Amino acid sequence: MFPKDFIFSTSTAAYQVEGAWNESGKGVSIWDDIVHRDPSFIADRSNGDTAADSFHLYKEDVQLVKHLGFRMYRFSISWPRVLPDGSTKFINEPGVKYYEDLIDELLANDIAPMVTIYHWDLPQMLQQKGGWLNSTIVDDFEKYADFVFSRFASKVKWWITINEPFSITTGYGGDDYAPGLTMHGIGDYLAGHNLLKAHARAYRLYKSKYSKFEGKLSLSLDANGAYPKDETNEEDIRAANRFMEFELGWFAHPVFSRYGNYPAVLRDRVDLNSAREGRDDSRLPYFTKDEIEEIRGTYDFFALNHYSSRLCTSGKTGPTPSWSRDSNVVTSFNDSWPPSQSSWLKVAPEGFRKVLNWIKTNYDNPEVFVTENGFSDYNQLHDLGRIDYLKGYLSELSKAINEDGCNVIGYTVWSILDNFEWRAGYTERFGLVHVDFNSPNRTRTMKQSATFIKKFIKENSFDS
Ligand code: NOJ
Repeated sequence: MFPKDFIFSTSTAAYQVEGAWNESGKGVSIWDDIVHRDPSFIADRSNGDTAADSFHLYKEDVQLVKHLGFRMYRFSISWPRVLPDGSTKFINEPGVKYYEDLIDELLANDIAPMVTIYHWDLPQMLQQKGGWLNSTIVDDFEKYADFVFSRFASKVKWWITINEPFSITTGYGGDDYAPGLTMHGIGDYLAGHNLLKAHARAYRLYKSKYSKFEGKLSLSLDANGAYPKDETNEEDIRAANRFMEFELGWFAHPVFSRYGNYPAVLRDRVDLNSAREGRDDSRLPYFTKDEIEEIRGTYDFFALNHYSSRLCTSGKTGPTPSWSRDSNVVTSFNDSWPPSQSSWLKVAPEGFRKVLNWIKTNYDNPEVFVTENGFSDYNQLHDLGRIDYLKGYLSELSKAINEDGCNVIGYTVWSILDNFEWRAGYTERFGLVHVDFNSPNRTRTMKQSATFIKKFIKENSFDS
């Protein structure tokens, strides 16, 4: 069903699983700050102070990954755990050692690490000066990445600079995530601009200083699938494409398209053309020619996070913190799509194939690694909804590869463990393995979906 050398992986992120929020010299992140300052920010007033306690239980986690047959494990480094105030002036060696040990443990078990350098836990000290809104973060991020490469590049071959820039921007344009600044239609575009520059800097730095290690780098972009609400209506077809350009193209065009820069439709629609003309009063910042060149082509593969889809039709939305911001696309779900525990996640597997084909068409069929895909299930152990989801999505993935010629080289299940699901706290469980958050030792128990995926990976099929 999948090519022989296809890579199956599974994933977590530091703040969602590690816990040990103030142990061994770790600094405070924007998530530590917000959960303690405003517990109501989180649905169940919980926090990631202990989470799944992977800081202490990482060896157990590695055994789970191995037991299920995954060849790769994607995890993130917590910036404030290694550089407590964000700057390389002070290095927290016990924090660095945690990641050294984790990487060594993975390699000793024949599991390739894929390391995400930034998965949302910005050092609070950097937020104090504006976080992703302040262009000085580009230098800060480059130095942080340089430090991480200097310590780990000899052992880690797969790198994600930044996870889901789109989601990060919703913490500046809205309050979906920390720091929750709600600068609708302004903060999001500013943060997005600096995120792209930071990614490009880290990529170019690696290529100039660490290329002897022959690592592969990208940034993980999140995209829903887009269905025209009425498949026969030209307006709806255009709206669905516009939705893709505003959500995925916003970050993918500058990096992956032949021409670089933001999609023309963003430059047209955000703030009355001013971005297109290069004026500096636009809400969508302007890239100079040099910046376009610096950002264009900063990838070795396309990293995609995908979960769900939307029906799209044209209509006035305006600059709001909605999914599509200035795109004037009104989105909804098809009533027939089965729900999950998460309001934003309904099951629409064909949408996965649509996204993969959209990438193939728009970006010259690059190598794609699916760096996240998964489902939140109400059922804690007998998670048949997750099994159905994985079956549906894996079979659409296989059609995209085998029938459409999409160049997909790997697939990652989010997540190996139940974990802290950001604003939803522990109310949404994405794990293949259950975590008892009430037990002091965070007992892990395999769910039915873990057994399913293990068999699937072993047999490369789910028919037998
Ligand atoms: C995207 C994020 O990268 C991850 O942190 C999150 O838990 C999952 N999707 C599920 O929402």
